[in-house]
Amino acid sequence: MDILIVGSGGREYSIGLALQQENKSAKLYFSPGNGATENLGVNIPFGDFEALCDFVEANEIGLTIVGPEAPLVDGIVDAFKARGLTIFGPSAAAAQLEGSKIFMKNFLSRHNIPTAKYVETNSLEVAYRFIETLTPPIVVKADGLCGGKGVIIAQSHAQAKKEAGEMLSGNAFGEAGKSIVIEEFLDGYELSVFAVCDGKDYILLPAAQDHKRLLDNNEGPNTGGMGAYVPTPLANEEIYKKLEERAIKPTLSGMQSDGMPFTGVLFMGVMVVKGEPFILEYNVRFGDPECEVIMPLLKSPFELFYKAAIGKLASANIEFYDKYAVGVVMASKNYPYSQSVPAEIIIDDIVHDDITGDSHISFAGVSKGEDGKLYATGGRVLVCVGVGDSIAQAQSKAYMLCGQVHFAGKQCRSDIAYQAL
Ligand code: AMP
Ligand code: GLY
Repeated sequence: MDILIVGSGGREYSIGLALQQENKSAKLYFSPGNGATENLGVNIPFGDFEALCDFVEANEIGLTIVGPEAPLVDGIVDAFKARGLTIFGPSAAAAQLEGSKIFMKNFLSRHNIPTAKYVETNSLEVAYRFIETLTPPIVVKADGLCGGKGVIIAQSHAQAKKEAGEMLSGNAFGEAGKSIVIEEFLDGYELSVFAVCDGKDYILLPAAQDHKRLLDNNEGPNTGGMGAYVPTPLANEEIYKKLEERAIKPTLSGMQSDGMPFTGVLFMGVMVVKGEPFILEYNVRFGDPECEVIMPLLKSPFELFYKAAIGKLASANIEFYDKYAVGVVMASKNYPYSQSVPAEIIIDDIVHDDITGDSHISFAGVSKGEDGKLYATGGRVLVCVGVGDSIAQAQSKAYMLCGQVHFAGKQCRSDIAYQAL
């Protein structure tokens, strides 16, 4: 079956790579893709949804997989389903779990799913009053999508009030900040847990841990994620059990009873506080770079995506390799502050027995130049992924591969997966 993958990042590249490795004869399309997805399939422009549906019909593409949240929130799944096309992802209504923090918090509270204490408001007065009841740090969140930047951890009441004011006035995040959530700070460790859902049933994937800060030791500014590893020993059986009973099952049944059954990836941002999991946020798609480390552990990626898309996960037999994966992001020189000048990417011939076969690159912010060479043109350029029998082994393979990849100004952390070692 031919497959279309919507998106242009390392996440979409890794999904394509996994599908291609499973079935060499599947034809892949990417929309819009990047300079390296061209090597896995065919890049097509990302236009309006009807034009994409026309393309899918004309080329008899049997499955479309959507990577990023924006087209989901904008209703790509609804547009495809209206045309009778098979697509993996949530409807626009269900994607509000990510598209609106207020929708999400109200959903959690309505269905008694553990989350931080909060108020949602568009009134500065209400915000100030609730801020006064909390002990800093205090969390201030813009309601809408802000490209991962809409969450502020304020260190004082005064800062929380200032941030709330900037958001509500529209100065900080425009319309996305005109309603806000103020919430208590939860102090614990974070996990990214992914469940692939078909509306009623789900398959839990191995839990990953992301590294959001730019620099080693979790210093420097927040980023989209500088590396990830999977599975993490921080998520034990007990945490999984609690999450399934207290979060995943009530979420799926709640979405069903609210008339918007959830299909696609339910990405739970979880804070574990004294052994108890709390939902910080939902995303409605794979994390990036978490996806890049989860994909290599899946034995049958096509079955997972396809059965979820057609509502038949109950009959799926999904297994994982008993391995570990570590992914190290290489970012461009000025990431995350500003664009960098395009830099040619040079990859040495991989001749080390230690990494041939057990490591690979997932390409993200790359473009092909007119000279046919690959250039670093985005913020997060690529992810070096190592797979091994232990986290230490996977980490060492990922870093060996990093040593083979060069471009001017490259930045990467040297401590990805340190929590697990
Ligand atoms: P979110 O987009 O809601 O996941 O927030 C982004 C990041 O902010 C999370 O990954 C956490 O590190 C942090 N964060 C969000 N909400 C809280 C909270 N209530 N307590 C502590 N940290 C939080
Ligand atoms: N790596 C976190 C995210 O994709 O939101």
